[in-house]
Amino acid sequence: MEQLLKQIDAYKQEINASAATDEKQVEDYRIKWLGTKGIVKAIMGEMKNVAPEKKKEAGQLLNEFKQYAEAKYEELKAASTGAVQTGFSMDISLPGDPMPLGSRHPVTLMRNRIVSIFQRLGFAVAEGPEIEDDWHNFGALNLPAHHPARDMQDTFYIQQNPDWVLRTHTSSVQIREMEKGKLPIRMLMPGRVYRNETVSARSHCFFHQVEGLYIDENVSFADLKQTLYFFVKEMYGKDVKVRFRPSYFPFTEPSAEMDVTCFICGGSGCNICKKTGWVEILGCGMVHPNVLSNCGIDPNKYTGFAFGMGIERPAMLKYGVNDLRLFSENDVRFLKQFTSAI
Ligand code: PHE
Repeated sequence: MEQLLKQIDAYKQEINASAATDEKQVEDYRIKWLGTKGIVKAIMGEMKNVAPEKKKEAGQLLNEFKQYAEAKYEELKAASTGAVQTGFSMDISLPGDPMPLGSRHPVTLMRNRIVSIFQRLGFAVAEGPEIEDDWHNFGALNLPAHHPARDMQDTFYIQQNPDWVLRTHTSSVQIREMEKGKLPIRMLMPGRVYRNETVSARSHCFFHQVEGLYIDENVSFADLKQTLYFFVKEMYGKDVKVRFRPSYFPFTEPSAEMDVTCFICGGSGCNICKKTGWVEILGCGMVHPNVLSNCGIDPNKYTGFAFGMGIERPAMLKYGVNDLRLFSENDVRFLKQFTSAI
């Protein structure tokens, strides 16, 4: 009896110290203590060795011990709920793995900014195919076959069909909008364009543009200037000065290129503006009457202006990126730096 008491005490201590962090360990406990070959069953077998006059006392002791072991089992079971054993252990109360967030591409950020400024003036966005036919990319834009100005843009031709090109500008989308015959038109054409140029830090065989087109009755060059002044103020700030230089595009007449005072040095001259104090940002002009009639619009009734600008260059200046190729290399270390809208 003495010995039985001692043994029970030792077992109780062991039970007390038992711990389980998942259901497998709880089950191990059950098998060890409460199973058919478990310790509780075994010690119950000791009853037969107890003297008859002590049997009642021993029975109570053993029963109490059994309840003690069972109570611990319930406790362990309750504590391990949620820790499911399915071949691997998983604690669903732990915080989840962080999900890495992507960021917008710097070209997209710059495009969105340009687009949002013109949207405030009522311009809508139009898109078109990157593989174009000769008519939309050249012919309708007053560039008939063999026109020397076709050489202004080195074109990629598609082998399977000599009539197809990779569009060299999004002016092709302007033609598609005009052909729809719904006037007035106030549209922006953002998109990717292709030119056969050697890939380097300063030029690439593809880049992005935003072009704009406004056609209505009585649209004048003054409207063009006011629209672009507004854009420059919103984009580069109030203090930036603007200048127009006469230029040539086959699809506009008159044509101009627009410069702004260098937003890096403020006009005093630096490497970005090649010490001139000015940076060229876009080409523009009044839509050529031939282009209007090519699209079925009466040039005696309607006039309009168009403009076009690259996106990469202002993005490079804005973010201090010194190599154009970085934009298309998809290096996450580069891309993840541009998290904020500009
Ligand atoms: N399409 C011209 C280019 O890609 C830009 C432009 C658009 C110029 C509209 C004038 C008017 O270079």
